[in-house]
Amino acid sequence: MKQVKIDGGRILSGKITISGAKNSAVALIPASILSDDVVKIDNIPNISDIYALDEILKYLGAKVTLKDGMITIDPTNIKNKEIPKDISSKLRASYYFMSALLGKYKYVEMYFPGGCKIGARPIDQTLKGFEALGAKVVEKDNKFTISAEELKGGHVYLDMPSVGATINTMLVAVKAKGLTIIENAAKEPEIVNVATFLNNMGAKITGAGTSEIRIKGVDSLKGCFAEVIPDRIETGTYIIAGALLGDNLRIENIIPEHVESLTLKLSEMGVKMEIGSNYIVVNRVEKPKPVNLKTLGYPGFPTDLQQPITTLLTQCRGTSVLEETIYENRFQNVPYLNKMGANIKITGKKIKVKGPTALKGAKVTATDLRAGACLILAALIAKGKTTIKDVDHVLRGYENIIEKLTDVGAKITIEEI
Ligand code: EPU
Repeated sequence: MKQVKIDGGRILSGKITISGAKNSAVALIPASILSDDVVKIDNIPNISDIYALDEILKYLGAKVTLKDGMITIDPTNIKNKEIPKDISSKLRASYYFMSALLGKYKYVEMYFPGGCKIGARPIDQTLKGFEALGAKVVEKDNKFTISAEELKGGHVYLDMPSVGATINTMLVAVKAKGLTIIENAAKEPEIVNVATFLNNMGAKITGAGTSEIRIKGVDSLKGCFAEVIPDRIETGTYIIAGALLGDNLRIENIIPEHVESLTLKLSEMGVKMEIGSNYIVVNRVEKPKPVNLKTLGYPGFPTDLQQPITTLLTQCRGTSVLEETIYENRFQNVPYLNKMGANIKITGKKIKVKGPTALKGAKVTATDLRAGACLILAALIAKGKTTIKDVDHVLRGYENIIEKLTDVGAKITIEEI
Protein backbone atom coordinates (compact mmCIF):
# COMPACT_ATOMS: atom_id res chain seq x y z
CA MET A 1 0.00 0.00 0.00
CA LYS A 2 1.08 3.58 -0.61
CA GLN A 3 0.73 6.72 1.48
CA VAL A 4 1.15 10.41 0.73
CA LYS A 5 2.52 13.12 2.97
CA ILE A 6 1.39 16.67 2.43
CA ASP A 7 2.68 19.84 4.01
CA GLY A 8 -0.33 22.13 3.79
CA GLY A 9 -0.94 25.80 3.15
CA ARG A 10 0.84 26.37 -0.16
CA ILE A 11 -0.67 28.52 -2.89
CA LEU A 12 -1.27 26.71 -6.18
CA SER A 13 -0.42 28.50 -9.39
CA GLY A 14 0.56 27.53 -12.91
CA LYS A 15 -1.29 25.06 -15.08
CA ILE A 16 -2.69 21.58 -14.78
CA THR A 17 -3.46 19.58 -17.91
CA ILE A 18 -6.39 17.24 -17.56
CA SER A 19 -6.10 13.59 -18.64
CA GLY A 20 -8.56 11.32 -20.43
CA ALA A 21 -11.69 10.37 -18.50
CA LYS A 22 -11.34 7.24 -16.38
CA ASN A 23 -15.01 6.37 -16.68
CA SER A 24 -14.90 6.63 -20.49
CA ALA A 25 -11.62 4.82 -20.98
CA VAL A 26 -12.70 1.91 -18.78
CA ALA A 27 -15.73 1.37 -21.04
CA LEU A 28 -14.06 2.02 -24.41
CA ILE A 29 -11.37 -0.61 -23.78
CA PRO A 30 -13.77 -3.53 -23.16
CA ALA A 31 -16.02 -2.25 -26.01
CA SER A 32 -13.09 -2.63 -28.40
CA ILE A 33 -13.35 -6.43 -28.38
CA LEU A 34 -16.64 -6.16 -30.30
CA SER A 35 -14.61 -5.08 -33.33
CA ASP A 36 -13.45 -7.61 -35.93
CA ASP A 37 -10.30 -5.60 -36.50
CA VAL A 38 -7.69 -3.43 -34.78
CA VAL A 39 -8.89 -0.37 -32.83
CA LYS A 40 -6.85 2.55 -31.56
CA ILE A 41 -7.88 4.76 -28.66
CA ASP A 42 -5.99 7.93 -27.80
CA ASN A 43 -5.84 9.96 -24.55
CA ILE A 44 -5.91 6.87 -22.31
CA PRO A 45 -5.11 7.98 -18.74
CA ASN A 46 -2.15 6.39 -16.97
CA ILE A 47 -4.10 5.01 -13.98
CA SER A 48 -4.20 1.61 -12.34
CA ASP A 49 -7.76 0.77 -13.50
CA ILE A 50 -6.36 0.75 -17.05
CA TYR A 51 -3.64 -1.76 -16.09
CA ALA A 52 -6.35 -4.10 -14.76
CA LEU A 53 -8.28 -3.89 -18.06
CA ASP A 54 -5.05 -4.44 -19.99
CA GLU A 55 -4.52 -7.60 -17.94
CA ILE A 56 -8.02 -8.84 -18.85
CA LEU A 57 -7.52 -8.08 -22.57
CA LYS A 58 -4.24 -9.99 -22.61
CA TYR A 59 -5.80 -12.86 -20.63
CA LEU A 60 -8.48 -13.14 -23.32
CA GLY A 61 -5.78 -13.25 -26.01
CA ALA A 62 -5.92 -9.73 -27.45
CA LYS A 63 -2.73 -8.11 -28.69
CA VAL A 64 -2.33 -4.85 -26.83
CA THR A 65 0.19 -2.04 -26.95
CA LEU A 66 -0.03 1.07 -24.81
CA LYS A 67 2.33 3.90 -25.66
CA ASP A 68 2.15 7.64 -24.97
CA GLY A 69 -1.52 7.44 -24.04
CA MET A 70 -2.50 5.53 -27.19
CA ILE A 71 -3.79 1.99 -26.81
CA THR A 72 -3.86 -0.31 -29.83
CA ILE A 73 -6.00 -3.40 -29.40
CA ASP A 74 -6.10 -6.28 -31.84
CA PRO A 75 -9.00 -8.47 -30.73
CA THR A 76 -8.95 -10.83 -33.74
CA ASN A 77 -7.61 -13.83 -31.80
CA ILE A 78 -9.41 -13.45 -28.49
CA LYS A 79 -11.01 -16.48 -26.83
CA ASN A 80 -14.20 -16.32 -24.83
CA LYS A 81 -12.89 -17.41 -21.42
CA GLU A 82 -14.12 -16.97 -17.88
CA ILE A 83 -12.23 -14.01 -16.41
CA PRO A 84 -10.68 -15.07 -13.06
CA LYS A 85 -12.40 -13.60 -10.02
CA ASP A 86 -9.22 -12.00 -8.67
CA ILE A 87 -8.92 -9.88 -11.84
CA SER A 88 -12.60 -9.00 -12.37
CA SER A 89 -12.98 -7.98 -8.72
CA LYS A 90 -10.29 -5.30 -9.08
CA LEU A 91 -12.69 -2.83 -10.63
CA ARG A 92 -16.31 -2.11 -11.42
CA ALA A 93 -15.70 -1.67 -15.14
CA SER A 94 -14.70 -5.32 -15.55
CA TYR A 95 -18.40 -5.97 -16.15
CA TYR A 96 -18.20 -4.15 -19.47
CA PHE A 97 -16.43 -7.33 -20.60
CA MET A 98 -19.52 -9.24 -19.49
CA SER A 99 -21.64 -7.36 -22.02
CA ALA A 100 -19.00 -7.14 -24.76
CA LEU A 101 -18.35 -10.90 -24.60
CA LEU A 102 -22.09 -11.61 -24.49
CA GLY A 103 -22.68 -9.31 -27.48
CA LYS A 104 -19.88 -10.97 -29.44
CA TYR A 105 -20.30 -14.66 -28.51
CA LYS A 106 -23.85 -14.85 -27.05
CA TYR A 107 -22.30 -16.54 -24.02
CA VAL A 108 -20.31 -15.33 -21.04
CA GLU A 109 -19.30 -16.54 -17.61
CA MET A 110 -18.11 -13.92 -15.14
CA TYR A 111 -18.04 -13.01 -11.47
CA PHE A 112 -19.65 -9.98 -9.87
CA PRO A 113 -17.47 -6.90 -10.57
CA GLY A 114 -15.43 -4.98 -7.97
CA GLY A 115 -15.21 -1.21 -7.43
CA CYS A 116 -15.09 1.34 -4.62
CA LYS A 117 -16.94 0.28 -1.47
CA ILE A 118 -19.45 3.11 -1.37
CA GLY A 119 -22.61 1.15 -0.67
CA ALA A 120 -24.55 -1.60 -2.44
CA ARG A 121 -23.90 -1.53 -6.16
CA PRO A 122 -26.30 -4.08 -7.60
CA ILE A 123 -26.25 -4.97 -11.31
CA ASP A 124 -29.95 -5.81 -11.65
CA GLN A 125 -30.54 -3.14 -14.31
CA THR A 126 -27.69 -4.49 -16.44
CA LEU A 127 -29.12 -8.00 -16.14
CA LYS A 128 -32.57 -6.67 -17.01
CA GLY A 129 -31.06 -5.16 -20.18
CA PHE A 130 -29.47 -8.51 -21.10
CA GLU A 131 -32.75 -10.34 -20.52
CA ALA A 132 -34.73 -7.83 -22.59
CA LEU A 133 -32.44 -8.74 -25.48
CA GLY A 134 -33.17 -12.45 -25.12
CA ALA A 135 -30.36 -13.61 -22.81
CA LYS A 136 -30.82 -16.09 -19.97
CA VAL A 137 -29.03 -15.22 -16.74
CA VAL A 138 -28.06 -17.85 -14.16
CA GLU A 139 -26.34 -16.74 -10.96
CA LYS A 140 -24.57 -19.05 -8.55
CA ASP A 141 -22.24 -17.92 -5.74
CA ASN A 142 -21.74 -14.49 -7.31
CA LYS A 143 -20.87 -16.01 -10.68
CA PHE A 144 -23.06 -15.22 -13.68
CA THR A 145 -23.55 -17.52 -16.64
CA ILE A 146 -25.36 -15.62 -19.38
CA SER A 147 -26.36 -17.12 -22.70
CA ALA A 148 -28.64 -16.54 -25.66
CA GLU A 149 -29.56 -18.61 -28.73
CA GLU A 150 -30.06 -15.33 -30.47
CA LEU A 151 -29.80 -11.74 -29.25
CA LYS A 152 -32.79 -9.74 -30.40
CA GLY A 153 -33.43 -6.02 -30.02
CA GLY A 154 -35.70 -5.17 -27.11
CA HIS A 155 -37.32 -2.33 -25.20
CA VAL A 156 -35.63 -1.58 -21.88
CA TYR A 157 -36.84 0.88 -19.27
CA LEU A 158 -34.16 1.45 -16.63
CA ASP A 159 -35.49 1.95 -13.09
CA MET A 160 -32.78 4.56 -12.57
CA PRO A 161 -30.52 6.21 -15.17
CA SER A 162 -27.61 3.87 -14.45
CA VAL A 163 -24.37 4.61 -16.28
CA GLY A 164 -23.26 0.98 -16.16
CA ALA A 165 -26.59 -0.49 -17.25
CA THR A 166 -26.87 2.01 -20.14
CA ILE A 167 -23.40 1.15 -21.45
CA ASN A 168 -23.81 -2.60 -20.89
CA THR A 169 -27.12 -2.65 -22.75
CA MET A 170 -25.60 -0.68 -25.64
CA LEU A 171 -22.69 -3.13 -25.85
CA VAL A 172 -25.03 -6.11 -26.20
CA ALA A 173 -27.50 -4.33 -28.49
CA VAL A 174 -25.03 -3.18 -31.17
CA LYS A 175 -24.88 -6.67 -32.69
CA ALA A 176 -28.35 -7.91 -31.66
CA LYS A 177 -30.95 -8.38 -34.40
CA GLY A 178 -33.30 -5.43 -34.86
CA LEU A 179 -33.99 -2.32 -32.82
CA THR A 180 -33.23 -1.80 -29.12
CA ILE A 181 -34.63 1.18 -27.24
CA ILE A 182 -33.18 2.14 -23.85
CA GLU A 183 -35.49 4.46 -21.92
CA ASN A 184 -34.49 6.45 -18.86
CA ALA A 185 -30.91 6.04 -20.10
CA ALA A 186 -28.07 7.80 -18.29
CA LYS A 187 -26.97 11.00 -20.06
CA GLU A 188 -23.35 11.27 -18.91
CA PRO A 189 -20.78 12.52 -21.47
CA GLU A 190 -18.96 9.17 -21.06
CA ILE A 191 -21.99 7.47 -22.62
CA VAL A 192 -21.79 9.75 -25.66
CA ASN A 193 -18.07 8.91 -25.91
CA VAL A 194 -18.81 5.16 -25.93
CA ALA A 195 -21.66 5.54 -28.46
CA THR A 196 -19.46 7.61 -30.80
CA PHE A 197 -16.72 4.96 -30.57
CA LEU A 198 -19.18 2.18 -31.42
CA ASN A 199 -20.63 4.23 -34.29
CA ASN A 200 -17.09 4.72 -35.63
CA MET A 201 -16.89 0.91 -35.69
CA GLY A 202 -20.08 0.80 -37.76
CA ALA A 203 -22.76 0.56 -35.07
CA LYS A 204 -26.03 2.46 -35.48
CA ILE A 205 -26.72 4.30 -32.24
CA THR A 206 -28.73 7.50 -31.95
CA GLY A 207 -29.85 9.53 -28.95
CA ALA A 208 -26.79 9.02 -26.72
CA GLY A 209 -26.70 11.92 -24.27
CA THR A 210 -30.51 11.96 -24.04
CA SER A 211 -32.74 9.71 -21.96
CA GLU A 212 -33.79 7.62 -24.97
CA ILE A 213 -31.13 5.72 -26.88
CA ARG A 214 -31.96 3.74 -30.04
CA ILE A 215 -29.68 1.05 -31.38
CA LYS A 216 -30.18 -0.74 -34.69
CA GLY A 217 -28.22 -3.98 -34.62
CA VAL A 218 -25.54 -4.61 -37.26
CA ASP A 219 -23.84 -7.89 -38.28
CA SER A 220 -20.24 -6.84 -37.85
CA LEU A 221 -18.08 -4.05 -36.47
CA LYS A 222 -14.83 -2.87 -38.00
CA GLY A 223 -11.62 -1.32 -36.68
CA CYS A 224 -11.61 2.37 -35.85
CA PHE A 225 -9.96 5.23 -33.99
CA ALA A 226 -11.37 7.06 -30.98
CA GLU A 227 -10.27 9.58 -28.39
CA VAL A 228 -11.15 9.59 -24.71
CA ILE A 229 -12.87 12.82 -23.60
CA PRO A 230 -11.23 14.90 -20.83
CA ASP A 231 -11.98 13.69 -17.31
CA ARG A 232 -14.68 15.95 -15.87
CA ILE A 233 -14.20 14.63 -12.33
CA GLU A 234 -10.44 15.22 -12.41
CA THR A 235 -11.22 18.67 -13.86
CA GLY A 236 -13.67 19.40 -11.06
CA THR A 237 -11.27 18.19 -8.36
CA TYR A 238 -8.54 20.61 -9.52
CA ILE A 239 -11.04 23.47 -9.93
CA ILE A 240 -11.99 22.94 -6.29
CA ALA A 241 -8.26 22.93 -5.42
CA GLY A 242 -8.08 26.31 -7.19
CA ALA A 243 -11.06 27.66 -5.24
CA LEU A 244 -9.22 26.66 -2.05
CA LEU A 245 -5.68 27.75 -2.88
CA GLY A 246 -5.44 29.03 -6.45
CA ASP A 247 -3.55 32.04 -7.64
CA ASN A 248 -4.61 32.07 -11.29
CA LEU A 249 -4.54 28.27 -11.35
CA ARG A 250 -5.23 27.26 -14.95
CA ILE A 251 -6.97 23.94 -15.60
CA GLU A 252 -6.71 23.07 -19.27
CA ASN A 253 -7.63 20.51 -21.91
CA ILE A 254 -11.17 20.41 -20.54
CA ILE A 255 -14.76 20.70 -21.77
CA PRO A 256 -16.15 23.46 -19.49
CA GLU A 257 -19.77 22.48 -20.27
CA HIS A 258 -19.14 19.08 -18.63
CA VAL A 259 -18.45 20.76 -15.28
CA GLU A 260 -21.17 23.42 -15.44
CA SER A 261 -23.07 22.04 -12.43
CA LEU A 262 -19.88 22.58 -10.42
CA THR A 263 -18.85 25.97 -11.82
CA LEU A 264 -22.36 27.39 -11.36
CA LYS A 265 -22.33 26.21 -7.73
CA LEU A 266 -18.87 27.72 -7.22
CA SER A 267 -20.11 31.04 -8.65
CA GLU A 268 -22.94 30.96 -6.09
CA MET A 269 -20.24 30.54 -3.43
CA GLY A 270 -18.37 33.57 -4.74
CA VAL A 271 -15.50 31.80 -6.53
CA LYS A 272 -14.02 33.87 -9.36
CA MET A 273 -13.26 31.97 -12.55
CA GLU A 274 -12.37 32.79 -16.09
CA ILE A 275 -14.01 30.18 -18.28
CA GLY A 276 -12.53 29.77 -21.77
CA SER A 277 -13.33 27.37 -24.60
CA ASN A 278 -11.11 24.59 -23.22
CA TYR A 279 -9.74 25.94 -19.94
CA ILE A 280 -10.73 27.51 -16.64
CA VAL A 281 -8.59 29.84 -14.55
CA VAL A 282 -9.60 29.82 -10.90
CA ASN A 283 -8.62 31.88 -7.89
CA ARG A 284 -8.80 31.25 -4.18
CA VAL A 285 -12.06 32.48 -2.66
CA GLU A 286 -11.73 34.49 0.57
CA LYS A 287 -15.08 34.00 2.26
CA PRO A 288 -17.12 31.41 0.37
CA LYS A 289 -20.88 31.54 0.90
CA PRO A 290 -22.52 28.35 2.20
CA VAL A 291 -24.66 26.44 -0.32
CA ASN A 292 -27.05 23.52 -0.50
CA LEU A 293 -26.16 20.68 -2.84
CA LYS A 294 -27.76 17.47 -4.04
CA THR A 295 -26.05 14.82 -6.17
CA LEU A 296 -27.85 13.73 -9.32
CA GLY A 297 -27.14 12.02 -12.64
CA TYR A 298 -25.71 14.23 -15.41
CA PRO A 299 -26.30 17.13 -15.96
CA GLY A 300 -26.92 17.33 -12.19
CA PHE A 301 -24.16 17.70 -9.61
CA PRO A 302 -21.99 14.55 -9.90
CA THR A 303 -21.74 12.20 -6.94
CA ASP A 304 -18.05 11.80 -7.79
CA LEU A 305 -17.42 15.47 -6.86
CA GLN A 306 -19.51 15.34 -3.69
CA GLN A 307 -16.61 14.29 -1.47
CA PRO A 308 -14.05 16.68 -3.02
CA ILE A 309 -16.38 19.70 -2.64
CA THR A 310 -17.00 18.87 1.01
CA THR A 311 -13.51 20.19 1.76
CA LEU A 312 -14.51 23.57 0.30
CA LEU A 313 -17.77 23.54 2.29
CA THR A 314 -15.71 23.38 5.51
CA GLN A 315 -14.37 26.84 4.59
CA CYS A 316 -17.78 28.49 3.99
CA ARG A 317 -19.08 31.18 6.36
CA GLY A 318 -22.11 29.31 7.65
CA THR A 319 -23.87 25.98 7.27
CA SER A 320 -24.06 24.04 4.01
CA VAL A 321 -26.26 21.00 3.49
CA LEU A 322 -25.22 18.32 1.04
CA GLU A 323 -27.46 15.41 0.05
CA GLU A 324 -26.09 12.25 -1.58
CA THR A 325 -28.82 10.59 -3.65
CA ILE A 326 -26.82 8.06 -5.69
CA TYR A 327 -24.84 5.98 -3.17
CA GLU A 328 -25.72 4.88 0.35
CA ASN A 329 -22.24 5.00 1.86
CA ARG A 330 -20.28 7.85 0.34
CA PHE A 331 -19.47 9.79 3.51
CA GLN A 332 -16.48 7.78 4.70
CA ASN A 333 -14.34 10.89 4.24
CA VAL A 334 -16.36 12.74 6.90
CA PRO A 335 -14.87 11.23 10.10
CA TYR A 336 -11.40 12.00 8.77
CA LEU A 337 -12.34 15.59 7.87
CA ASN A 338 -13.69 15.96 11.41
CA LYS A 339 -10.44 14.54 12.75
CA MET A 340 -8.68 17.34 10.85
CA GLY A 341 -10.90 19.93 12.53
CA ALA A 342 -14.06 20.11 10.38
CA ASN A 343 -17.52 20.30 11.91
CA ILE A 344 -19.67 17.92 9.88
CA LYS A 345 -22.70 15.93 11.01
CA ILE A 346 -24.10 13.00 9.03
CA THR A 347 -27.86 12.46 9.17
CA GLY A 348 -29.00 9.71 6.83
CA LYS A 349 -28.31 10.78 3.25
CA LYS A 350 -27.37 14.31 4.24
CA ILE A 351 -24.41 16.04 5.79
CA LYS A 352 -24.49 19.40 7.50
CA VAL A 353 -21.18 21.22 7.22
CA LYS A 354 -20.64 24.12 9.62
CA GLY A 355 -17.91 26.51 8.58
CA PRO A 356 -15.50 28.00 8.53
CA THR A 357 -13.18 25.62 10.34
CA ALA A 358 -9.41 25.75 10.25
CA LEU A 359 -8.09 22.31 9.30
CA LYS A 360 -4.94 20.86 10.80
CA GLY A 361 -2.67 18.05 9.64
CA ALA A 362 -3.52 14.52 10.86
CA LYS A 363 -3.13 10.84 10.03
CA VAL A 364 -6.06 9.82 7.81
CA THR A 365 -7.04 7.06 5.40
CA ALA A 366 -8.36 7.14 1.84
CA THR A 367 -11.25 4.67 2.07
CA ASP A 368 -12.18 5.05 -1.60
CA LEU A 369 -11.13 7.00 -4.68
CA ARG A 370 -13.05 10.25 -4.21
CA ALA A 371 -12.72 10.18 -0.41
CA GLY A 372 -8.98 10.13 -1.05
CA ALA A 373 -9.27 13.14 -3.39
CA CYS A 374 -11.26 14.98 -0.70
CA LEU A 375 -8.59 14.28 1.91
CA ILE A 376 -5.79 15.41 -0.40
CA LEU A 377 -7.63 18.73 -0.85
CA ALA A 378 -8.12 18.98 2.92
CA ALA A 379 -4.43 18.27 3.51
CA LEU A 380 -3.46 20.95 0.99
CA ILE A 381 -5.24 23.63 3.06
CA ALA A 382 -4.44 22.17 6.50
CA LYS A 383 -1.92 23.67 8.85
CA GLY A 384 0.98 21.26 9.26
CA LYS A 385 1.60 17.77 7.92
CA THR A 386 -1.01 15.21 6.89
CA THR A 387 -0.36 11.55 6.12
CA ILE A 388 -2.96 9.82 3.97
CA LYS A 389 -2.83 6.02 3.96
CA ASP A 390 -4.19 3.73 1.22
CA VAL A 391 -3.83 6.29 -1.56
CA ASP A 392 -3.69 3.39 -4.01
CA HIS A 393 -7.42 4.09 -4.32
CA VAL A 394 -6.64 7.58 -5.60
CA LEU A 395 -4.11 6.28 -8.13
CA ARG A 396 -6.91 4.20 -9.67
CA GLY A 397 -8.49 7.38 -10.97
CA TYR A 398 -6.12 10.37 -11.01
CA GLU A 399 -3.23 10.29 -13.48
CA ASN A 400 0.07 11.60 -12.07
CA ILE A 401 -1.67 13.41 -9.22
CA ILE A 402 1.55 13.83 -7.23
CA GLU A 403 3.43 15.35 -10.19
CA LYS A 404 0.50 17.55 -11.24
CA LEU A 405 0.12 19.03 -7.75
CA THR A 406 3.88 19.38 -7.21
CA ASP A 407 4.20 21.28 -10.51
CA VAL A 408 1.75 23.95 -9.31
CA GLY A 409 3.37 24.39 -5.90
CA ALA A 410 2.04 21.72 -3.53
CA LYS A 411 4.39 19.95 -1.14
CA ILE A 412 3.38 16.33 -1.55
CA THR A 413 5.34 13.09 -1.57
CA ILE A 414 4.33 9.47 -2.03
CA GLU A 415 5.91 6.36 -0.55
CA GLU A 416 5.33 2.63 -0.37
CA ILE A 417 4.67 1.32 3.14
N1 EPU B 1 -27.91 0.82 -9.51
C1 EPU B 1 -28.77 -0.19 -9.22
N2 EPU B 1 -28.85 -1.24 -10.08
C2 EPU B 1 -28.08 -1.30 -11.20
C3 EPU B 1 -27.21 -0.25 -11.49
C4 EPU B 1 -27.13 0.81 -10.61
O1 EPU B 1 -29.46 -0.16 -8.22
O2 EPU B 1 -28.20 -2.29 -11.94
C5 EPU B 1 -27.77 1.96 -8.58
C6 EPU B 1 -26.40 1.93 -7.92
O3 EPU B 1 -26.40 1.12 -6.77
C7 EPU B 1 -26.15 3.36 -7.63
C8 EPU B 1 -26.87 4.10 -8.78
O4 EPU B 1 -27.80 3.17 -9.29
O5 EPU B 1 -26.79 3.69 -6.43
C9 EPU B 1 -25.96 4.61 -9.87
O6 EPU B 1 -25.23 3.56 -10.42
P1 EPU B 1 -24.60 3.63 -11.87
O7 EPU B 1 -24.87 2.34 -12.55
O8 EPU B 1 -25.01 4.88 -12.57
O9 EPU B 1 -23.06 3.73 -11.55
P2 EPU B 1 -21.90 2.85 -12.09
O10 EPU B 1 -22.05 2.64 -13.55
O11 EPU B 1 -21.69 1.69 -11.22
C10 EPU B 1 -20.41 4.90 -12.76
C11 EPU B 1 -19.04 5.34 -12.40
C12 EPU B 1 -19.03 5.85 -10.97
C13 EPU B 1 -20.04 6.99 -10.84
C14 EPU B 1 -21.42 6.53 -11.32
C15 EPU B 1 -22.44 7.64 -11.31
C16 EPU B 1 -17.70 3.84 -13.75
C17 EPU B 1 -16.75 2.71 -13.79
N3 EPU B 1 -18.13 4.21 -12.55
O12 EPU B 1 -20.70 3.84 -11.85
O13 EPU B 1 -17.74 6.32 -10.74
O14 EPU B 1 -20.11 7.37 -9.50
O15 EPU B 1 -21.33 5.99 -12.64
O16 EPU B 1 -22.05 8.66 -12.12
O17 EPU B 1 -18.04 4.42 -14.78
C18 EPU B 1 -15.93 7.04 -9.45
O18 EPU B 1 -15.38 7.36 -10.53
O19 EPU B 1 -15.48 7.37 -8.32
C19 EPU B 1 -17.14 6.26 -9.51
C20 EPU B 1 -17.64 5.60 -8.46
